[in-house]
Amino acid sequence: MKVLVTGSKGMLGQDLCPILKNANYTVIETDIDTLDITKLDEVERIISTENPDIVIHCAAYTNVDKAEEDIETARLINFVGTENIAKACAKNDCTMVYISTDYVFAGNGTEPYKPTDETAPLNNYGLTKWEGEEAVRKYCPKHYITRTSWLYGIYGKNFVETMISLADKPELKVVDDQIGCPTWTVELSNGILKLLQEKKSYGTYHICGSGVTSWYGFAKAVFELSGIDVNLKPCTTAEFPRPAKRPAYSVMDNDGICRDWKEALKEYINLRQKVGK
Ligand SMILES: NC(=O)c1ccc[n+]([C@@H]2O[C@H](COP(=O)([O-])OP(=O)(O)OC[C@H]3O[C@@H](n4cnc5c(N)ncnc54)[C@H](OP(=O)(O)O)[C@@H]3O)[C@@H](O)[C@H]2O)c1
Repeated sequence: MKVLVTGSKGMLGQDLCPILKNANYTVIETDIDTLDITKLDEVERIISTENPDIVIHCAAYTNVDKAEEDIETARLINFVGTENIAKACAKNDCTMVYISTDYVFAGNGTEPYKPTDETAPLNNYGLTKWEGEEAVRKYCPKHYITRTSWLYGIYGKNFVETMISLADKPELKVVDDQIGCPTWTVELSNGILKLLQEKKSYGTYHICGSGVTSWYGFAKAVFELSGIDVNLKPCTTAEFPRPAKRPAYSVMDNDGICRDWKEALKEYINLRQKVGK
């Protein structure tokens, strides 16, 4: 089986590609230098030449706060780029996997969001990712839309690494009134692999860590598991204003596809120490 990956140099792409190769897929790695997803002719040419069975679309505009002032670029990449991939996949009869986000939900619920629940994004990033979802549904019948959340991994800028870099502050305040499901890129990659290998029905899935925590709880676990002593204090969202609104309740029902978030985090912390991070 041949898989073409977009955004292969991103945080997810760099963990996903070796996992696919290990599972005996032939992997075509592309990123903006080899396949700019915003250019339909380029997308169509490369997908028809490479003729993959599956396209896993990881490329995205991921700067949530910047998207508030630059919705045009966020929309061009997250909506138009995704629409281009969906059209080319449909034309070449290949399966498309689109990585989406918990930010498609308003986050005012009390029960874990199911894939079929109503969406209502609070910020421009969430809106453009949702527009991408709709394009996939419209143009590419053979699709998996996989929503994930609070992603971290060895190859990218993320919450875990930010926290560790701030550990020497006299006091570190972290938001305790937004809750969600931290997800390691390796867990997400394995979840995607599972959908493909088990030939699950096409549709929308939630692939995120099991269990729930706040950003404060997440930070506390990072420091405990790393053996770092830090003066960590919980704070409210109001005390830590950001350009983009974030959902307060960002909990998704993952149907047991990933293990407990803390178990995965423990493995990640061991790995980052092993590679000398
Ligand atoms: N990070 C999270 O917390 C999170 C949470 C939920 C969902 N997601 C979703 O998960 C997926 C993977 O996220 P990630 O954290 O791995 O993102 P990432 O590290 O920002 O990687 C995205 C990759 O896409 C590339 N890219 C940007 N514009 C492109 C274009 N026009 N054509 C081709 N490639 C382009 C980027 O290149 P440059 O770096 O050069 O721009 C980068 O290599 C995304 O779909 C994201 O929306 C992420």
